[in-house]
Amino acid sequence: MEHTGWFKDRVFYQIWPRSFYDGDNDGMGDLWGVLQKLDYIKSLGCDGIWFSPLYPSPGVDCGYDVADYMDIDPRFGGMEAFEKVLEEAHKRDMKVIMDLVVNHTSDQHPWFQLSRLKVDPYTDYYIWRPAGKNGKLPNNWDSLFEGKAWQYDELRGEYYLHLFSVGQPDLNMDNPRVREEVKKILRFWLEKGVDGFREDVITFISKVEGLPNDLLPAAKGLRKFNHGPHIHEYLSEFQRDVLSRYDCVTLAESPVITPRMALRYIEEGPEQEIDMMIQFETAAADCFLVEYLPLPFSLRRLKAAFSRWQKILSGRGWNMLYLENHDHPRVISRYGSEEYRVESGKALAAAYLFQQGTPFVYQGQEIGMLNWHPRDPEEYEDVQTLWHYRNRFTFLGKKLRLRLLWRASRDSARTPLQWSGEKNAGFTKAEKPWFTVNDNYREINAEKEERDPDSVLNFYRKAIALRKSLKAVRYGNYREYDRLSGRRYVYSREFEGERLLVICSFSKKEQRFRAPRGFSPGSAELLLQNYPDAPEGRLRPYECRVYRWER
Ligand code: GLC
Repeated sequence: MEHTGWFKDRVFYQIWPRSFYDGDNDGMGDLWGVLQKLDYIKSLGCDGIWFSPLYPSPGVDCGYDVADYMDIDPRFGGMEAFEKVLEEAHKRDMKVIMDLVVNHTSDQHPWFQLSRLKVDPYTDYYIWRPAGKNGKLPNNWDSLFEGKAWQYDELRGEYYLHLFSVGQPDLNMDNPRVREEVKKILRFWLEKGVDGFREDVITFISKVEGLPNDLLPAAKGLRKFNHGPHIHEYLSEFQRDVLSRYDCVTLAESPVITPRMALRYIEEGPEQEIDMMIQFETAAADCFLVEYLPLPFSLRRLKAAFSRWQKILSGRGWNMLYLENHDHPRVISRYGSEEYRVESGKALAAAYLFQQGTPFVYQGQEIGMLNWHPRDPEEYEDVQTLWHYRNRFTFLGKKLRLRLLWRASRDSARTPLQWSGEKNAGFTKAEKPWFTVNDNYREINAEKEERDPDSVLNFYRKAIALRKSLKAVRYGNYREYDRLSGRRYVYSREFEGERLLVICSFSKKEQRFRAPRGFSPGSAELLLQNYPDAPEGRLRPYECRVYRWER
């Protein structure tokens, strides 16, 4: 089937179902809730939805531990609710993509239960190894979530590999039967009418043969399973046997990847395996690789990452643009300023929405939600956060460790969406929501944002509408100015004589600003801004402007 590239003109909204909206009043978000909010999502200008996992799951990793790939969790409304959402989304010309989580399953998945018992054909569905000499673990890899990557199973008398939590055993993708299972899952959902997949840590699915030790223990084994030896073969197989038969989109998550490496997967042409890559470089401007290793925010690092991806992919591959998702704390709290929440929320939006690629907006980002600050670490829900709290930096005092988690935890951005100033932020009518509501909900909520024409929400609406109306955003060349500035991000996009100039301040201080050569604000049209006027030569805290001028 022809691959039309429809995704290049769309803006996606990411729903993390547990915390989006509770439609059946049991305290947890669900698809009935989504159904009621489709028009809200569409009103943002978003015409695609990526659903974080909706499948039945014990919830050890909030659904990223799948117990049944062909069904929808009854807590989210089951298949009935999903089909309704899909139908209603399509009626509104909104595409729907699922999360495909096949690096691992839940330990409750029947495949795993049968594999433990060595029942064929499931015996080799997972990565099992006997203990090494003197009871040593099969190798020195670490789990990304909790301790070592191996867990002993009494029933089978062997260790299994889990790159994530103990409840998420890794599938053995080298087994052709497992790959057939993946294809069945893909077909099942495509036949149901979904429009594509976000593929969870998909670059981890091929492990180096023999599972050797990583000689650099700090790398946690990553070099032995990320972009492994058969990755391109397997992704091409999925592409050839299933995906190429549908006009669907794929986006691959890869925690460690450069744009040049990404091109191996996404370069357009007959060998293309994936449409877009979810990279982490732009998500690491205030840390060393992951948020648990914090550094001061560096605008230069952020700009360099943005520009690298824009330039290297240009004309060859398509970018996936994002500032937030369910794995990272809120971006205003990280890269902007809580004090200048509204201004910096808008400047951040302008910083990424006019780049080339398909933007994703994570629930709550559009209303400028901030990080959650629990008083007690036991309030955390996330398996990774709790493990860190209990095992890392334990020499530091409790208070300091908690503060580090405020900055690092995925739960900082997983609290219920703040719909209104009513009880539980209007997220649920149940007495108690499944997860703590951020106590700033009376100041920050969708209803309030809706009423204020100058809110972050209404800025997103304008920016997305503008983006869609400008050819230069889809096709234009990208150029960065003021590269060395640590306080301003300035870039242009140019296509057939139409030029856009995006200027964003990332500073709490007012600053002098000289426009790039050849540009005079007098002859340019100001299309979007976050202050009521636009004086020449200076920028106020977190000011942003988008200009158009003809050459
Ligand atoms: C991805 C998901 C994350 C999940 C992990 C394991 O990184 O985005 O939420 O915990 O994979 O599936």
